[in-house]
Amino acid sequence: MSKADIIVGIQWGDEGKGRVVDLYAQDYDVVARFGGGDNAGHQIKVGEVDIALRLVPSGVLNPAVELFIGGGTVVNPFGLLEELERLAAIGVDVSRVRISDRAHLVLPYHAAQDRANERARGAAAIGTTGRGIGPAYVDRTARSGITFADFARPQTLAEKIRLNLLHRAAQLEGENVASEADIVGSTLDAAQRLAPHVVDGVAYIHEKFEHDKRVLIEGAQGSLLDVGYGTYPYVTSSHTIAGGACTGLGIGPGAVGRVVGVVKAYCTRVGAGPFPSELLDERGERLRQAGGEFGTVTGRPRRCGWFDGVAGRYAVRLNGLDALALTKLDVLCGFERVGIVTGYRVRDQAAGFSAAGSPELEVEVEELEGWDEPIRGARTMSALPQAARRYVARIEEILATPVEIVSVGRERSELVRL
Ligand code: GDP
Ligand code: IMO
Ligand code: MG
Repeated sequence: MSKADIIVGIQWGDEGKGRVVDLYAQDYDVVARFGGGDNAGHQIKVGEVDIALRLVPSGVLNPAVELFIGGGTVVNPFGLLEELERLAAIGVDVSRVRISDRAHLVLPYHAAQDRANERARGAAAIGTTGRGIGPAYVDRTARSGITFADFARPQTLAEKIRLNLLHRAAQLEGENVASEADIVGSTLDAAQRLAPHVVDGVAYIHEKFEHDKRVLIEGAQGSLLDVGYGTYPYVTSSHTIAGGACTGLGIGPGAVGRVVGVVKAYCTRVGAGPFPSELLDERGERLRQAGGEFGTVTGRPRRCGWFDGVAGRYAVRLNGLDALALTKLDVLCGFERVGIVTGYRVRDQAAGFSAAGSPELEVEVEELEGWDEPIRGARTMSALPQAARRYVARIEEILATPVEIVSVGRERSELVRL
């Protein structure tokens, strides 16, 4: 029996998971998503192809790989159909995409509810992606959600939609939501078109193990956005850490092999909430411009700051990491000095990641010498400037975890293997 390896983001998302999964996927037979929905946005560049993915796993540009959307995800069927069409139009074989019957549907009333909730929160708004992810997970937990298994029972599906609209009628007053008839009609239409992709998700993944297929599990979002262990309540509504892979796919911990954490050479966050290493000066702006730090899903400018070693160590614990994939090292090029946050000046370090985490939190910053030389052409560690090598070594030391690849550009080939 084979085991599955996991790749997760260890910051606040957008670490470059898509780029890293695309690379690792070359050695696997299946790439599986276990959580989240189209709040995720992964950009991948291979030669002339430059794509943005939301739901389809990031192994998609490896033609031999099967793509599985697991039971822990919440899927907007209309968004998925659009994404499949977009991929088919560039010649991708989308018949390889399978969806677990246990995955939940995100329907138009979820996005409307997301908007209404954010408005009601006022100044304490989370800054969600507005895609209805939170409300869809609420329905799942409240046992009123609609799954892909319901595609086989159109009557039940229609009745569930009716009840879901009825129960939230008061909350959605004044929101622009399609009529019940429209939602039922379009969902049944989408169900017909997506039906060929729906599988018994538990049987699917376990048969892969039994046939010794190599499975790569792809995380969405980042560890500090985990609903249980992130900067609650400024988090997403799913478990994004490695443990979520087991519940999200219906596999036991014994089925897991290695866990690789994707870590950006600096930090970003989109949306509200604690961000201890944030730079509100021109250095933050410079990271944003050099790193192209604008959301794939919403286009929002991402907040930027130094690499946070305290948050990083916390995420290493949450995930049980075996190795790191360090991304976007090229973006730090040209800084005279590069900072790393090594401590918070508060009695309880965990305060930085909890609801109590305060914006006034002071951080200890260690400054390392920067480098001017462009590094996108580097393919070996020895080709990197000494200061860049020292920076990588310092991150390994702080996280007590080996870096196994360093990404120095967006393109698949722009990479140093250690
Ligand atoms: P994800 O959500 O973790 O998959 O990350 P996103 O795709 O949302 O954001 C990462 C962005 O950085 C994408 O536009 C990638 O193409 C880009 N990227 C990934 N690795 C590198 C790198 O090493 N250098 C540079 N300059 N860009 C990178
Ligand atoms: P990828 O997979 C970055 C953030 C949102 C918001 C919070 C809650 O591309 O790394 P939600 O819509 O999930 O209820 O929003 O979580 N968020 C992400 N930030 N990358 C993501 O995904 C994110 N998915 C959700 O900005 O702060
Ligand atoms: Mg992203």
